[in-house]
Amino acid sequence: MAILWHPEEKEFHLRNDYLSYIITLLPDGSPALAYIGRPLSPDGRYGRLIRFEDRALSTHQPGLPPSFCLEYVPREYPTYGRGDFRFPALEFVCENGMPLVVDLQYRSHRIYSGKPHLDELPATYCESDAEAESLTLVLEDRAHQIEVHLHYTLFANHPIVARRVSIHNSGSKPIYLKRALSAVLDLDSADWEMLHFAGAWGRERHLVRRPLVPGFQSIGSSRGSSSAQHNPSAIFARPNTSETSGEAIGALLVYSGNFSIDAEVGSHGTTRLGIGINPFGFSWKLKSTETFETPEALFVYTAQGFGEMTHHIHRLLNRRLIRGQWQKRERPILINNWEATYFQFDEYKLLSIARSAKDLGAELFVLDDGWFGRRKDDTSSLGDWKVNREKLPGGLESLARKITDLGLSFGLWIEPEMVSPDSDLYRQHPDWAIGSPFEKRTLGRNQLVLDMSRSEVVDYLFDTISGILSSAPISYIKWDMNRHITEPVSAGLPPDEQGEFFHRYILGVYRLYRRLTQVFPHVLFESCSAGGNRFDAGMLAFAPQAWTSDDSDAIERLKIQWGTSFFYPPSAMGAHVSAVPNHQVGRITPLWTRAFVAFFGAFGYELDPEKLTEAEKAEVREQIAFYKQWRILFQFGDFYRLEGGRSGDGSGNFVAWMSVSEDRRRAAVLVVQVLAQPNPGFSHLLLRGLDPSLNYQIRVRPAVAVKNEASLRYNEGLRRGDELEYVGLLLGGDGWNGGSRGDFASWLFTLEAH
Ligand code: GLA
Repeated sequence: MAILWHPEEKEFHLRNDYLSYIITLLPDGSPALAYIGRPLSPDGRYGRLIRFEDRALSTHQPGLPPSFCLEYVPREYPTYGRGDFRFPALEFVCENGMPLVVDLQYRSHRIYSGKPHLDELPATYCESDAEAESLTLVLEDRAHQIEVHLHYTLFANHPIVARRVSIHNSGSKPIYLKRALSAVLDLDSADWEMLHFAGAWGRERHLVRRPLVPGFQSIGSSRGSSSAQHNPSAIFARPNTSETSGEAIGALLVYSGNFSIDAEVGSHGTTRLGIGINPFGFSWKLKSTETFETPEALFVYTAQGFGEMTHHIHRLLNRRLIRGQWQKRERPILINNWEATYFQFDEYKLLSIARSAKDLGAELFVLDDGWFGRRKDDTSSLGDWKVNREKLPGGLESLARKITDLGLSFGLWIEPEMVSPDSDLYRQHPDWAIGSPFEKRTLGRNQLVLDMSRSEVVDYLFDTISGILSSAPISYIKWDMNRHITEPVSAGLPPDEQGEFFHRYILGVYRLYRRLTQVFPHVLFESCSAGGNRFDAGMLAFAPQAWTSDDSDAIERLKIQWGTSFFYPPSAMGAHVSAVPNHQVGRITPLWTRAFVAFFGAFGYELDPEKLTEAEKAEVREQIAFYKQWRILFQFGDFYRLEGGRSGDGSGNFVAWMSVSEDRRRAAVLVVQVLAQPNPGFSHLLLRGLDPSLNYQIRVRPAVAVKNEASLRYNEGLRRGDELEYVGLLLGGDGWNGGSRGDFASWLFTLEAH
């Protein structure tokens, strides 16, 4: 890995074994992307890859040849107003509202080992300087006294470039940022498709794949959180790119607030990608001598398909984004009482759930919503984080002790950012809620949102949550956030700084998370937002796992976990077995199918174990014992999406995926057949990631008992890795599925090197 600087050609070459990222300075002194792709020779010079042509209707700069037109050249951090009519990365206005035409030119640069730490924003990091090399390009607009630092980090062992930007006002007057993207990538082709992850509550992160078309296209959020509607991640891939081959660039924003990911296909076969804070509704007063820091964007390049992209980003997020004591730790098997009791519980009920769960092998009991204030339903008490003595007469401490005495850890649900209008906190501090107490405030789930941009709110929450965490043996917190933000104005900000609200809100959330995780490093935080409404890399930097979706139906989860897996590792995906008929869709699926799907995540149960029959309890006991043996593989193995159906999004009738251990000696393969088929044809499922020269002992477990046991044994026994990769598992045929009748059947194959 190296970052090379060629002063004569004014060229920077960021290069490791996987990729080259080459920046060159244009004739006007601004930086341009000459190349991103497979590694090119370090000896070459590549500025000539940028083509300059004099075209009709083009504009050009005085003193420079007409062939140099900003509209047609790639630009690393484009500004508006000087002939580049594509969307800009940066936009300013002056105090009096006058737009500023900014002309950023190279002034200096610095190349250094390692990766600098960011104070306020979450970011990937290095544990030693040898892990990465960084480049900071200093650009300036002298006339307007604006300095922009473009920061790049290339990781040694990943095809990943991290980018972010610092924007500094060296003038004496304030200026207003209207847009400050984290990065722009100008690609020399329009032959790309965009893959992104769209949805809503209960169906988060379903994969969408669509060709880019001429003009502007965009996904994003303006809801105050990254959202269930769109995820701050996208992939730009060649039309023929598949899981195993082809070129793609993954883009992931380490951020939890309003974002946008944009693409603009220009009129001459080029594509501009942009990623960063959503400019919609954003502005930032940059006072004299102040600096604005953008969130970090990660670009993952692959020439080997989506699988390789996934493995690299999973490893980086697991090892160099998630931090603290939970960074590499196996996640506990939990039981959560939400779907078991909703708001109706008392200590007796909780303890009986915990006792049964312990007997079945669970490790952590999580008390969900409803333990505080006068909370009987969702109409009151958010903000009053004092135990409800009617439900829990001995308080939290007594309950937590009784649970830990059973040999389980104790975890607790909170929703710190919220306040119910019917709460003591609201009666004391109506102005702490977002919006004006004198105007109509929109409700969401009957609640208002606390103004996290105000330090007194963050301080209050820190003291309150610290008090709870110190009062009882709590080792896990589920941090929820159950609505989107409306009336986005803050009583703490002057009128000309209101555009800062959304970003300051999320900085406040990060500040609270940072302080709590520093003081309580042993606590495992799970982020949640009405399921997976804030499932993003920003959250992962503080909360190593996230509740993937409120929809725990095994079949719905196929699409959700499929889409989520492109960027986020299974260790981060909360996945629970819940009761049937499923509470979200009413579907009845086999208990083992529910477990098999949830195994590929941070596993747990979300049901009342006391309602299980003795036979079901025995199965749950077996599931938990099995998961414990294979947990490292499920949580930290390399994840391969094998079969997702015709649209490749996990919605097919056959869905299959697998995990392979880092040493390639163990693997687990899940096959789900959504609807039963009469007399199916034969098929093969090619496995991936195995060592072709190793023999694997294969065992298969069907989710439902089959009539013809012998047919299941086709795949059992010892088979070599090469055969499993080139011929695959033998599926299909009435014989193979053992004559199993009924929908939602599934099989889990385990492979162990012999
Ligand atoms: C959200 C969460 C659920 C549960 C409820 C409690 O919807 O996603 O898991 O915690 O809140 O109110």
